[in-house]
Amino acid sequence: MSENQTVLITGASGGIGLEFAKIFFSKGYNLILISRDRQKLQEVKESLTNGSSQSIAIIPCDLSQDKSAQNLYNQCKADELAPDILVNNAGFGMHGEHVDLSVSEVENMINLNILSLTSLCGLFGRDMKKRKSGFILNVASTGAYQPTPYHGAYAATKSYVLNFSEALAKELEDYGVTVTCLSPGATDTDFFIRSGIGDVMTGFFAKKRRMDAKKVAELGVSALFSKKLSTIAGLTNKILAWSNRFAPRAMVAGLSKILMKNP
Ligand SMILES: NC(=O)c1ccc[n+]([C@@H]2O[C@H](COP(=O)([O-])OP(=O)(O)OC[C@H]3O[C@@H](n4cnc5c(N)ncnc54)[C@H](OP(=O)(O)O)[C@@H]3O)[C@@H](O)[C@H]2O)c1
Repeated sequence: MSENQTVLITGASGGIGLEFAKIFFSKGYNLILISRDRQKLQEVKESLTNGSSQSIAIIPCDLSQDKSAQNLYNQCKADELAPDILVNNAGFGMHGEHVDLSVSEVENMINLNILSLTSLCGLFGRDMKKRKSGFILNVASTGAYQPTPYHGAYAATKSYVLNFSEALAKELEDYGVTVTCLSPGATDTDFFIRSGIGDVMTGFFAKKRRMDAKKVAELGVSALFSKKLSTIAGLTNKILAWSNRFAPRAMVAGLSKILMKNP
């Protein structure tokens, strides 16, 4: 199935995205790896290649910048790279009171988590529709499932990703294209450094409670090939997300505030 097939992964220089790269490479896929950092991508490429005949293209690209998704798509076209699988994994969060956060950095986060993901789905999804085959895996978060004080804008971007992905999945299923949304809970990556939470040892996001990035990526790939609409990584995360459905919204927002204020 993977012979001469190509997967494009955003945010492939570390964390869950790097684990996606390892998994797809081990299954025989050619890779197109995206992040802002050429050096890190080069290191990933060298660590994976190991004499294999599969190709790995690296394209440094800041997907929080205006028109970056279109530029990335144009670059792939120019290089004759046509992904059979698109993994929209790149994203970051910002922790704190919304009014205290940098407005421009929140805008960058929305550009990356929402705008670029949406445009990449449109651009590459259109080609998949024409070919009548393809897979898209979008990475949301358990934050998608409830209002999340102190992670308010970030979690809302992931609610968008979840709802958009599920809607797109229903549109594209008529053309043989599968869209799956993966929602990780706390996972042991650099996410917590960039979001400002850091390597906390106690509380909701304590390092010991976080899932392994490899396990999360494996669950995502498995859900994709099982053609699931969406999946939440891990039983505890599933129970937490599902229990929200039956509780009053005010109660959920209040509990979420308690958990998130001093994570
Ligand atoms: N870790 C968690 O607890 C957790 C929980 C729920 C959801 N998620 C989601 O999982 C996804 C992966 O996150 P992670 O945990 O693996 O975090 P991570 O270790 O910080 O990795 C993020 C990846 O995205 C890339 N990236 C960041 N900004 C970018 C930009 N502007 N343009 C292009 N690439 C960019 C980073 O590469 P460069 O820095 O080299 O650009 C890196 O490869 C994200 O969408 C995140 O929201 C994570």
